[in-house]
Amino acid sequence: MTKTNGYAARDRSWHPPALTPLYKTSVTRSPRFAPIGAATSLSEETGPVFGHDILGAKDNDLITNFAAPGEMAIGPRIVVQGHVRDEFGRPVPHTLVEVWQANAGGRYRHKKEGYLAPLDPNFGGCGRCITDENGFYEFLTVKPGPYPWPNGPDDWRPAHIHVSVFGHSFAQRLITQMYFEGDPMIWQCPIVGTIPTREAIETLVAKLDRPGSIPMNSLCYQFDITLRGRRQTMFENRMEGM
Ligand SMILES: [Fe+2]
Repeated sequence: MTKTNGYAARDRSWHPPALTPLYKTSVTRSPRFAPIGAATSLSEETGPVFGHDILGAKDNDLITNFAAPGEMAIGPRIVVQGHVRDEFGRPVPHTLVEVWQANAGGRYRHKKEGYLAPLDPNFGGCGRCITDENGFYEFLTVKPGPYPWPNGPDDWRPAHIHVSVFGHSFAQRLITQMYFEGDPMIWQCPIVGTIPTREAIETLVAKLDRPGSIPMNSLCYQFDITLRGRRQTMFENRMEGM
């Protein structure tokens, strides 16, 4: 495995190519020239450090973190949890994990949102947490709905949660999307379709964890994340940094 100052190189054939015309905006976003390799320096080998003191008590609870007192977001209640690990399988502790998502009807709280599904007054759609010493993270939320988007004549995104992981340096930074086991819309999505292999796509599909469910409360989904290396979790549509 190629190494760059301690960070294993990515296998770029495992990730989506930058130019994938069926995902329309990749045509204008993708570079026209081949990338130039460069060794890492201090600016890539370091990153911001976040302490637990930046977090509010409800930051990882999207069901109530935007809700009026005594209210809750509407939708199927779920727990999303997993581990963040590095390319060698070691836990990545004390790193910031952020999530954002549509509400249960598939609608984002965003001024440019164009879908007619209703806003949920008690759902903001974003949360954050910091991994524990074992790299474990957990969110409480509602399962997001699928939504249409202006790509082809009638393209829909599968239900998904956007995930950002800072890692311990900018070289580990990862932004991706998590899908849900058993969703047929995954296999019709032009963004998912940019990922070269089914094996790679499966790494973005959270697994339903029945024993992990909380009776009369929430189903549980497991989603593990790998930073860098040959089997790094997919970037959502382009790789940043090295
Ligand atoms: Fe989205």
